[in-house]
Amino acid sequence: MINQEFKDMIQAPSVIRALAGYANRRGKEIGYENVFDYSLGNPSVPVPEELTKTMIELLNTKDSAYLHGYSPNPGNPMSREVTADHLNRVFGMDYTMDHIFMTSGAAGAVAHALRCVTKPGDEVLTFAPYFPEYNPYVNKTGAILKVVPADTTSFQINFDAFEEMLNPNVQAVLINTPNNPSGIVYSTETIQKLASILESKQKEYGHDIFIISDEPYREIVFAGVDAPYVSKFYDNTLSCYSYSKSMSIPGERLGYVAVNPRATDANLIVPMCCQISRGTGHNCPASLIQIAVAKCIDLTSDLSVYETNMNLIYNELVDLGFEVVKPGGTFYIFPKALEDDAVAFSEKAKKYDLILVPSDSFGVKGYFRMAYCIDTEKVERSLVALREFVKKEYGR
Ligand SMILES: Cc1ncc(COP(=O)(O)O)c(C=O)c1O
Repeated sequence: MINQEFKDMIQAPSVIRALAGYANRRGKEIGYENVFDYSLGNPSVPVPEELTKTMIELLNTKDSAYLHGYSPNPGNPMSREVTADHLNRVFGMDYTMDHIFMTSGAAGAVAHALRCVTKPGDEVLTFAPYFPEYNPYVNKTGAILKVVPADTTSFQINFDAFEEMLNPNVQAVLINTPNNPSGIVYSTETIQKLASILESKQKEYGHDIFIISDEPYREIVFAGVDAPYVSKFYDNTLSCYSYSKSMSIPGERLGYVAVNPRATDANLIVPMCCQISRGTGHNCPASLIQIAVAKCIDLTSDLSVYETNMNLIYNELVDLGFEVVKPGGTFYIFPKALEDDAVAFSEKAKKYDLILVPSDSFGVKGYFRMAYCIDTEKVERSLVALREFVKKEYGR
């Protein structure tokens, strides 16, 4: 018999994917260049040139069994060592390769981290607004995702609501900074406060509470913004990283879990991840991309276009009277819609070929997300459409 649960999920596809599908269909009618598609977080800038060169050189010079063979379960040893060194240099940590587990992107990293520190029935708290895929990521492990309501004035953490929701059944807190969808970077003060609450709750409940820090946008931080490395503030942290956004390689599926060396059972987490992989059929990411990225580990794509786009959009939104918190990083912005019903707002925007994602699935009502990983020239044209939309539909 087929599995009813997964069958039912087909009826509720991701809102973001549905809008991206609409944008593609509309693009076929009027030319994709005329659709202002702010739906998907697919990086728009090229991969670092050096990465392309490295891959070509590897293919031309290295043994094919080395490049295309299975890598060991936790990942290629050279890649793990280089990753640990990189994190130690950049963030002043003291990882060894034994703390690094290579994964298929951040999705794979979070999937492993969650399973390491929760069992079915446990609660995992996350903070609105949050990445909607956290629902399947968490709930399909058997643990239960609970969402702490947003602090809509700053999109930092709503600590009052968080403390109310903490209880002995909470085994992990899943955070995402820089944040999709708000673009907000949690400040040092926020991370310190989160760490101090969790330290005291660990003592009170007599068990560990892990932070699972989902960090695929760690490198996309705008000028002057303080972007603390979460693991420096809290020992029981599993950092989940991805090269999808920083190197523009989401299709290569590469990321890792980095286990804080002072976490409980730190030396067992990576071997546990290897066992989890056996159960989920994840196995290892492709050897070639692990090796190539390790050789370019200090590089990123030219990410500056995202800040240029953010400033253009933010300034226009403010001029038009939108309520919006200025993003500190990522390629997302999360303004308040001009009516309470964000779905209706987004539907009206379609008339102007503006594809805006309503906020309901991010755990906040009345907002919308724009993923501005598109060409700056297109952003500029889209602002004309935005002005027209706001004037005609809302008289502003
Ligand atoms: C917050 C967040 N976490 C995880 C992921 C998944 O990243 P990856 O493609 O590296 O698996 C994404 C992708 O958009 C994301 O925005």
